[in-house]
Amino acid sequence: MDRRNFLRTSAGAAAGLTVMSALDASSAKATPPRLLIDDVLSQKYPFTLPALGYADNAVEPAVDAQTMSIHHDKHHAAYVTNLNKALETQTALQGKTLRELLTGLATLPDGARNAVRNNGGGHANHAMFWTVLAPNGAKAPSGTLAAAIMRDFGSVAACTAALKAAGLAQFGSGWTWLVRDGGGKLTVRGSANQDTPITDGGKPIVGVDVWEHAYYLKYQNRRTDYLDAVLGALNWDTAASAYGA
Ligand SMILES: [Fe+2]
Repeated sequence: MDRRNFLRTSAGAAAGLTVMSALDASSAKATPPRLLIDDVLSQKYPFTLPALGYADNAVEPAVDAQTMSIHHDKHHAAYVTNLNKALETQTALQGKTLRELLTGLATLPDGARNAVRNNGGGHANHAMFWTVLAPNGAKAPSGTLAAAIMRDFGSVAACTAALKAAGLAQFGSGWTWLVRDGGGKLTVRGSANQDTPITDGGKPIVGVDVWEHAYYLKYQNRRTDYLDAVLGALNWDTAASAYGA
């Protein structure tokens, strides 16, 4: 068994996986899938890299297989490794879930705060990205999420345009987000580095990585082309599950 299949198999068995795959896409419409992001936010030390849940080439042409492989197996894995290193000696923090760590950043010891912010954020943010890139989902929002988008943006096109604009406006490395606040209102925002809306109490509905490692192999400096492609490949079923009722 190669490493990827091992990861997929072991994580799937352990977590009772998660993101919709080609095989369960039809049944998932009746029973919303558990989301990778929810599994990851429930993890405690030692944190583990979740399986992507689909093939490296499943999101082509928007995301090429090589970028997907390196992004998941190397970049995301490094955030998990470094988060574990940061908590190795922080025994008081080892019983906290990733969600608790990220929402409680301000209360963490000085020796752990930045490492959790960067690496815990990186772990959660990438799990969100894999969630909304899962193949075989709806290509447009429907139901409660669609109604909320119409209410808060006027149209789906205006919502995705705002996501693109926030991604382009993010100087350097960061993310563009569609976030649900406590009252259900949707907003679009950018974040720097691995800062996550979760820390401020927001619920990510869509998160798109705009670090160069997410697109440089295929798109080089053309972040705008990358954003057009990825925003056109979003899985609106998993986004709707993230939004909830
Ligand atoms: Fe990334």
